[in-house]
Amino acid sequence: MKRKLLGAFLSTAMVASLVVGCGGGNDSAATDAPAETETPAEDAAEDATPAEDTATEGAEAPAAGGGKIGISMPTQSLERWNRDGAYLDEQFKAAGFETILTYSDDKTEQQVNDIQNMLADGVDMLVIAAIDGNALNTALEGAAEQNIPVISYDRLILNDAASYYVSFDNYTVGQLQGEYIVEALDLANAGDKTYNIEITAGDPADNNATYFYQGAIDAIQPYLDNGALNIVSGQKDFDAVATPGWKTDTALARAQNVLSSYYADGTQLDAWLCSNDSTALGVTQAVTSDYAGSNTVVITGQDGDEANLKNIVDGVQTMTVYKNVSNESIVTLALAKAILAGETIDESLIPSFGIECAFDTESYETSAGNKCPSFLLVPNVITKDNLQDLVDTGLYTMGDDGYLSAAN
Ligand code: BGC
Repeated sequence: MKRKLLGAFLSTAMVASLVVGCGGGNDSAATDAPAETETPAEDAAEDATPAEDTATEGAEAPAAGGGKIGISMPTQSLERWNRDGAYLDEQFKAAGFETILTYSDDKTEQQVNDIQNMLADGVDMLVIAAIDGNALNTALEGAAEQNIPVISYDRLILNDAASYYVSFDNYTVGQLQGEYIVEALDLANAGDKTYNIEITAGDPADNNATYFYQGAIDAIQPYLDNGALNIVSGQKDFDAVATPGWKTDTALARAQNVLSSYYADGTQLDAWLCSNDSTALGVTQAVTSDYAGSNTVVITGQDGDEANLKNIVDGVQTMTVYKNVSNESIVTLALAKAILAGETIDESLIPSFGIECAFDTESYETSAGNKCPSFLLVPNVITKDNLQDLVDTGLYTMGDDGYLSAAN
């Protein structure tokens, strides 16, 4: 199989410079693998039968100039990744790139397979939201051998072959959730009163999950320390409150368990810190059906999924941390273009994005301990009171019933 190497406009030197990234530029990614050599990964990928629920688009269309981009999203079962996939695909196509878009049904082996197929298909760059940040080594070795740059999209890939990271400030997401609870319960003025809280965190395989968790815990810790807040179940450690796969049903089952074990006696529950909307969906369901108290429980979330926005209108979820993933795709496209053009990748690119974000070279590390240069966008708190802000983005419409729908 002959693969095209970034079109005619990239010299080998440029390729070597563009893969300097999370690995610090001294890894195998910077070696000059011959462009026409087939790798074992390619052989394997060529032989592999495409996974049944892999949606592949555009693979046959001629490159319109920019090259071919492989966009690997984790799953279609959670609302946001459908939006991310669609926006990325749209952005890259509009900019003249050919795209291959896959969703891997939250199965790591399938994601490895999907990425290997993209490499076999001659992609010039990979944009990957990893299901498991630690599980893509086989696929990324293939990318490194072929000098294919990899943008870790939203979730950090812990392999050094990843080149750059585009995400939101994940620690801040958690901090906004924790601070919201502090203010909603007015914990600074709690006096002798103790408020009760429970926590539901994300998927241990997702590098973001511990950032969300830690940001939130740091915000509420002073009140756990001074007794204004109490975790009645005692379940606070990340491992105790994590939700594998970010699954709504798993969050629901644990919340029901906590409610029946610790709140059935009439103990008041004041807040439930949830790291995102899919987990908040399970928790709100449990609180609505299984919580005996009549007070409103403050429940946090993240993403602005339609079902959660409805729950916010209905008053059963209190807030969500909104991340404009259309903007995330715009930043990703601009970064991809800069990488492919061999430009210097640093904060000087930000004005050209036209989107507020920070260039961070300290916060995110690969498993080898190398810092991954990151562009981090800014998340916002959405409550019942500022839903109009979402409508103003042009990405949502509000129906006569007051509920929001994602605009297509
Ligand atoms: C994303 C969140 C999302 C979660 C589950 C995280 O990596 O940053 O926005 O809610 O995955 O899909």
